[in-house]
Amino acid sequence: MSTRRHLLQALPGLGATLGATLAAPAWAKPAAAADFAAAVATQPLLAPFKGVTDASGDRDCASALLRGRWPAELRGRFYRNGPALYERQGERYHHWFDGDGMVQQYTLGDGRVAHRGRLVRTAKLQAEQRAGRFLMSALGTQIDGGPPAGGPDAFNVANTNVLEHGGRLLALWEGGSAYALDPRDLSTQGPVTWRADLQQVPFSAHPKVDAAGHLWNIGTAGPGIVVWHIDPKGALAGVQLGESPFPGGMVHDMAVTGRYLVVPLPPVKLNFQEPVAGDGPRRFPMVAGEPLRVLVMEKADIRRRRVFELPPQMVFHVGNAHETRDGRIALSYIAAPDTWFLDQEAVALMAGRPSPAGHANLQLATLDMASGRAQVQGLPGEVEFPRIDPRRIGQPARFLVTGAAWRQSDLRNTALLHGVQVLDTETGRSRRYDYGDQVVVEEHIVVPKPGRTGELDAWLLGTIYDARRQATVLNLLDAAHVEDGPIAQAVLPYLLPLGFHGNFTAA
Ligand SMILES: [Fe+2]
Repeated sequence: MSTRRHLLQALPGLGATLGATLAAPAWAKPAAAADFAAAVATQPLLAPFKGVTDASGDRDCASALLRGRWPAELRGRFYRNGPALYERQGERYHHWFDGDGMVQQYTLGDGRVAHRGRLVRTAKLQAEQRAGRFLMSALGTQIDGGPPAGGPDAFNVANTNVLEHGGRLLALWEGGSAYALDPRDLSTQGPVTWRADLQQVPFSAHPKVDAAGHLWNIGTAGPGIVVWHIDPKGALAGVQLGESPFPGGMVHDMAVTGRYLVVPLPPVKLNFQEPVAGDGPRRFPMVAGEPLRVLVMEKADIRRRRVFELPPQMVFHVGNAHETRDGRIALSYIAAPDTWFLDQEAVALMAGRPSPAGHANLQLATLDMASGRAQVQGLPGEVEFPRIDPRRIGQPARFLVTGAAWRQSDLRNTALLHGVQVLDTETGRSRRYDYGDQVVVEEHIVVPKPGRTGELDAWLLGTIYDARRQATVLNLLDAAHVEDGPIAQAVLPYLLPLGFHGNFTAA
């Protein structure tokens, strides 16, 4: 039997999940675009959730308006990805995660910052562009017209993360293949499968690239979990298939250490029989009585593994993991007590009805590989989008960069982030910068300064939506002086949809 058939039989996949649930009468029909337009008139921070509405979605700016001092030694390409196309023919998606992906590329150097944005021309986007309407049901929205055919890549929206690796530019989603784009012009080249028998096998959106350039990733669907190893040149070095200790759960991110893969498995399942954001049962419920599992697998052979059980929490993102000298694994991740964001807020934002709640905190766990026991400690502070020095992935890293929120105001009746912080995990203290009431802060990444080795010898690079300018702004901060705010900015002549994740490639 081919590996692909074997994998796909073990992985019923999102296609089967979505296809089987299209008959569910409670699935939310598309919202009306006009309702969002009316709501956002009084919620200026939510303007990016209008998304891209023109035919091509192309955005180009040869030279953004620069402020401050952009260092000459900072040269390269900064990418971001996120859902961008939410509306067709007056119909609007319900859930933030439903939108078609759009890759943003900021080219830094020679005294200027250029921007280019392109929708990822997935099979789904091309089919819907030809039809002029939505054809495929999504995570949170039912579209009439029959189940998607041909497996998960038929409705892969490639909307979650983007990175250059091994000579490819990859736009990533959770349920299907990576999509390759040409880094020179962001034209879409198509799904990457690495080997002919691995078509449509899920390649998740949070791979980790170690200091030597090896990329590790997982893919999950149904009872199966796939482990990918891509070598520094972009060739497939290995693929392994295992069984999830929590079949059918939602798995978003992972960590690596020198020897292990570390995968949080929150006790969350997708319940497509229920509507999104209803008052009754949840579409994305926490399963009562189930712990947060952390699956630790040896890279060399994932059959050698341990499953740790921690108090039940929802986890999207990990910070980092490393092995300690005494045989434990230190793991940082961001967790919430429930699925409020996935189930409620990601829908409320799309409807122009955000709410101020939100409880996602950093957790520091130790996993004892000898005894199987786990300990975890939560740190106060509302944070998301954790990043570290990329040279320390899988190694001890003292500092963790996150977006943050620590106050509400009349202008900010929203859980969206307003600041960025650098947390010292040894002291628990953080230094932070507040972008202000009229700004939405997106993920900020760590870019080491050329020729320097210290963990804070780095810049932070990240975008914001500035409602005063109605523009997206790229910011550069000094990691050692984050509280001083941006040392340089590049102001685009337009606003972009809010993105999720991105990465930098030095030139
Ligand atoms: Fe993510």
